[in-house]
Amino acid sequence: METENLSVLLLHKHPEFLRACCDLINDEWPRSETARMMSLQASCDNLPTSLILVSDAKQILGHLKLTPIPAIPESCFIETVVISKALRGKKLGSFLMRRAEEYCKNVLKLEKVYLSTKGQENFYAKLGYVICEPISIYGSGSPNSFKLSPSRNKVEIPVPRVVSIPTGVPPPPPPPMPETSVNNNTINTIKSNKTFMFKYI
Ligand SMILES: CC(C)(COP(=O)(O)OP(=O)(O)OC[C@H]1O[C@@H](n2cnc3c(N)ncnc32)[C@H](O)[C@@H]1OP(=O)(O)O)[C@@H](O)C(=O)NCCC(=O)NCCS
Repeated sequence: METENLSVLLLHKHPEFLRACCDLINDEWPRSETARMMSLQASCDNLPTSLILVSDAKQILGHLKLTPIPAIPESCFIETVVISKALRGKKLGSFLMRRAEEYCKNVLKLEKVYLSTKGQENFYAKLGYVICEPISIYGSGSPNSFKLSPSRNKVEIPVPRVVSIPTGVPPPPPPPMPETSVNNNTINTIKSNKTFMFKYI
């Protein structure tokens, strides 16, 4: 597909594409429209930033979102990469990714971009991404700590209740550790079912 008729735009500068962008993403990953719109409306000049691929006929063809990684400030995380179903395999995804990398390097002055995927490893490998250790996109933890999905992989550490114990009575045993894939050594060993990849830009 000819790319000279295509533009990559900042979604928050073009709110006229908000609704269509919401539909494009929800067509791939169905989610509440309200939640999706709120997420897209958070796009701003500082991260998070949604970039959209638009044709000269003012049709939205693709989207991706850049989010911050607090523990690795010279980088960002690329997520929700999607091309309109009817237009896949025409290099539009590659075009959007490359434009996003240029934006990260030249405008945001970043050095690296990270992403995670399950099934699209070859697509990203062709763009120069290599597999890396899982990273956390939450908080300011170690770069080696894992990205925990708030809903599915959340590790809840039980907080013991404070109770008054009569003198001479041994305290009750501590509660059992939560059922997770955490092993005895470190939280860093939580398994992720996604492949993490990164690229120097
Ligand atoms: C993944 C996606 C963004 C790729 O966009 P696209 O425009 O179809 O990809 P391109 O045409 O730029 O493909 C570039 C290369 O990657 C390859 N490729 C694309 N998708 C691939 C896949 N799923 N598996 C293996 N290779 C793939 C293409 O064959 C092409 O290879 P070539 O250069 O040798 O011809 C698009 O298929 C999509 O929206 N998928 C559904 C949403 C999704 O899974 N997003 C990724 C979330 S991590």
